Amino acid sequence: MAYSGPFHFGDRVQLTDAKRRHYTLILEEGGEFHSHRGLIKHEDIVGMDEGSVVRSTLGSDFLVFRHLMVDHVLSMPRGAAVIYPKDAAQILVEGDIFMGARVFEAGAGSGALSMNLLRAVGPEGHVYSYEIREDHLEYAVANVTEYFGQQPQWWSPRLGDLGEVTAADLGGPVDRVILDMLEPWEYLETVRDILIPGGVFMTYVATVPQLMKVMEGIRELKCFTEPKAWESLVREWKVEGLATRPEHRMNAHTAFLVWTRRLADGVTPPRPQRRARR
Ligand SMILES: C[S@@+](CC[C@H](N)C(=O)[O-])C[C@H]1O[C@@H](n2cnc3c(N)ncnc32)[C@H](O)[C@@H]1O
Repeated sequence: MAYSGPFHFGDRVQLTDAKRRHYTLILEEGGEFHSHRGLIKHEDIVGMDEGSVVRSTLGSDFLVFRHLMVDHVLSMPRGAAVIYPKDAAQILVEGDIFMGARVFEAGAGSGALSMNLLRAVGPEGHVYSYEIREDHLEYAVANVTEYFGQQPQWWSPRLGDLGEVTAADLGGPVDRVILDMLEPWEYLETVRDILIPGGVFMTYVATVPQLMKVMEGIRELKCFTEPKAWESLVREWKVEGLATRPEHRMNAHTAFLVWTRRLADGVTPPRPQRRARR
């Protein structure tokens, strides 16, 4: 799949009309886009640079760009709720997902995080995505395959229960583990067993009771550093002269992120020093 340069047949493109409405299509030989604003032949778009304007038979102008990953994630079919782009961005940076990393994730859900991980690790790395539900795995495979144009060779989507995974199933311990599921505290021993010493473990939980349980579970297992927890709030701004202000609406809560690192075998975590209560 091309990410830049002039359009080719096979590209997924987004047309935007004067009212900022988006229309997504895949450029096909002989293909046509029809709307109440007229017809556009796909072949008229092929060869144009991204950011060009294409005119319909009724004289309406549409801006044309390739679909970005974020557009794909927010518009693709879902079996399970996806990790939102603002949180995926946190996971990529705070989880230190490096080029060439071997990353384990569960559950694969709709494949939104898988896509972000796959692009970050690149073909020198590997992503293992486990999913317990066959119907959800089908969504993940279809969405990822559609985005990359084919199933990436550095991806292993697998139907299975995280609780039964061993390091041997993954060809040895992995560098990073990311969990997005209801009860991550049930699988902390598995995470310990598949994660390399020094490896980063992050998990994504929606509610305060889940957050408390997973933080306590990590502390009790005594093979991880003191965990950190946070959430990210992203507020868009309208910037128009004297009307400049924050937007009225935002996705205020998606989930909490929990972060820790695996200690070397046999090491006990130093006790965190907390200020004594008076
Ligand atoms: C919220 S979804 C994950 C969404 C995904 N991160 C995305 O961005 O598209 C949680 C998924 O975890 C799966 N799951 C729950 N328990 C699991 C387990 N023990 N092993 C593997 N997958 C599991 C569920 O079936 C569900 O599809």
